[in-house]
Amino acid sequence: MNEYPRTKPGSQPEYLYAGYRSTIRRAPSQPLIQLPHTLSELSGPVYGHNSIGPTDNDLTLHFAEAPQGERIIVAGRVLDEDGRGVPNALVEVWQANAGGRYRHARDNHPAPIDPNFLGAGRAVTDDAGNYRFVSIKPGAYPWRNHHNAWRPAHIHFSLFGSAFVTRLVTQMYFPDDPLIPLDPILQSIPDADARARLVSQFDLSLTEPEWALGYRFDIVLRGRRATHFEEGGK
Ligand SMILES: [Fe+2]
Repeated sequence: MNEYPRTKPGSQPEYLYAGYRSTIRRAPSQPLIQLPHTLSELSGPVYGHNSIGPTDNDLTLHFAEAPQGERIIVAGRVLDEDGRGVPNALVEVWQANAGGRYRHARDNHPAPIDPNFLGAGRAVTDDAGNYRFVSIKPGAYPWRNHHNAWRPAHIHFSLFGSAFVTRLVTQMYFPDDPLIPLDPILQSIPDADARARLVSQFDLSLTEPEWALGYRFDIVLRGRRATHFEEGGK
């Protein structure tokens, strides 16, 4: 049986972070109890591998017309903690439109809904762990966490790797966004390197001439750490 290491201290958001108001009510008030991974977490099936449509990874093709906004390409590799690509990982994304509005009943921010943009997509990684999305750059949007609070532009990511226990939900940010230092959701992650890993990199090699800017975002899932480790094997 393989084991998955627990997350590194400081690499994940604090459960309680006073600057992020909703954590005050939802943070555990008792110390957590660590449970051993269950067999189904380690070996059970994960979702969706057989039902990805050919345009699911292009959020600009889901309606008859193209959505408003700056077209972008977001691509990268899904890796385990040993740096190996994770094939067949399900990568799901959701995001606001170019005006910073979600197509969601609870989003009543007075920015227009784009009839040609749903804001959700998914992809499966190839044999080397690569994924690629085409979308539009999401806008910043206000939220009511504190006075004059605005979320930096971001794309939400959910990943399922080789096992359910590798599930990761995270957000990708864009480089040089002035709202990043002001964002309590991102700043609730104690480790500066871990925060920096959530900021994508502009990548000219992903950028397509006359078409779209490219951003690279590599994602590290929990590594598969074999219980029995052979050294010097042939
Ligand atoms: Fe969001």
